[in-house]
Amino acid sequence: MSDFDFFSVSDVDRARAMAHAQTAAAAAADIPDISSDTPLRPIQRVAVIGAGTMGGGIAMSLANMGIPVTLLDASATGLENGLKRVQDNYAITVKRGKLTSSEMDQRLSLIVGSLEMAEVKDADMVIEAVFEDMGLKQGLFRQLDALCKPSAILATNTSGLDVDQIAAVTSRPQDVVGAHFFSPANVMRLLEVVRGAQTAPDVIATLMDLGRRMGKISVLARIYPGFIGNALFRNYTREAHFLVEDGAMPYEVDAALKKFGYAMGIFAVHDMAGNDVGYQTRKAQMATRPTDRRWNDLILKLCDLGRLGQKTGKGWYRYEAGDRTPHRDPQVEQFIAEESARMGFPRRTMSESEIVKRCLYGMINEGAKLLEHRIAIRPSDIDITYLTGYGFPAHQGGPMFMADRIGLDKVLADIERLHAEYGFWWQPAPLLQQLVREGRCFNDLEH
Ligand SMILES: NC(=O)c1ccc[n+]([C@@H]2O[C@H](COP(=O)([O-])OP(=O)(O)OC[C@H]3O[C@@H](n4cnc5c(N)ncnc54)[C@H](O)[C@@H]3O)[C@@H](O)[C@H]2O)c1
Repeated sequence: MSDFDFFSVSDVDRARAMAHAQTAAAAAADIPDISSDTPLRPIQRVAVIGAGTMGGGIAMSLANMGIPVTLLDASATGLENGLKRVQDNYAITVKRGKLTSSEMDQRLSLIVGSLEMAEVKDADMVIEAVFEDMGLKQGLFRQLDALCKPSAILATNTSGLDVDQIAAVTSRPQDVVGAHFFSPANVMRLLEVVRGAQTAPDVIATLMDLGRRMGKISVLARIYPGFIGNALFRNYTREAHFLVEDGAMPYEVDAALKKFGYAMGIFAVHDMAGNDVGYQTRKAQMATRPTDRRWNDLILKLCDLGRLGQKTGKGWYRYEAGDRTPHRDPQVEQFIAEESARMGFPRRTMSESEIVKRCLYGMINEGAKLLEHRIAIRPSDIDITYLTGYGFPAHQGGPMFMADRIGLDKVLADIERLHAEYGFWWQPAPLLQQLVREGRCFNDLEH
């Protein structure tokens, strides 16, 4: 087993990690098959559809750079609440002294609400941010196809749906692209640009540039479940949950992740976001999903027990009224131990190192698969995605950077050990095996 120390980072390694982040941020703008002098489509007016959490934040990001936005919603209440949230967010920024009230008024004047879909007709770009439902999004894109002007870019903020299936219902799949913003969209620095099979080069170049002008880092991904960010995140959370089923308690997993450098552990994050996020979808998938592998369903059971997280005062932790501090809860810990026994998993002590290793190596292995399938252009694109969108500790440089630092031979040896012990999910990525055979590292793939 590798004796790599995940928890202390020397000043030299820290400085290298910081330098890597800077190089990665610059490199992400470079797309090998799209020339940097590709003429961009002018973006002078944008329509954002869906005035919810994401739509409001996206509208603010655009207004902040002086672009007029029409914020559309199907429901009057949805629109009213969305506009109110935008106003409140700006008011907080003014209160903190980071914006003057006249700047706030100027930005607010750029965001105009509407319930009339026909308002999209003058938009140079439409960014759709309605509920994550393929049928709903396809219906909307059919409408957009009929209403938008010919050169308009039609973007979807889907977190993981197949952009090609959305593009396919339009007569202009070359104009359809994924624009995956992160929450809160007016704050988070990452924009994942998702390239469909037919997305035109100038559409990609225009969206990448728009992200940059918004002060964000634009990273290009191809279509894959969860694109780059959520694909790795799925592996990270799955291992965290398996660790809990295998013997660690949520507070132990979270403590190890915090010691590694995360601001919050994953279970505290779940409790904050709500354990019921994605509950219906996951429940619906249970009947048809493959039975040859292990699934982590404990979170669904927690929801069935009413442990939705902070909002119900209990989740993976318990919370005192009016306080967000997570406290260990003997009730949930007993429940977890009983579930492990019921599933036949003998519980054993997990070291901090083993905890970080399983969460991190799950990401690295998936990252290698993304590179092999050309979902991500280069390893540093994965790192910058993680540093700017997923709270990966800056001084650790990103998962792929860490893999090189640890040594790919050591990482692969551990992944093979985990594969032998746990099976399916740890199938080593062929690219990782190849790099080890050839004595190369991820950084050798940078271009
Ligand atoms: N919330 C996140 O953290 C997050 C992060 C990244 C991406 N996303 C994605 O962004 C999209 C929106 O998510 P959200 O969290 O902002 O949702 P939300 O529930 O907060 O808001 C969705 C809004 O869309 C409106 N709407 C629904 N159908 C509509 C239609 N046909 N026409 C116009 N408006 C319609 C609703 O009234 C609502 O106001 C989803 O695809 C989601 O997966 C969400």
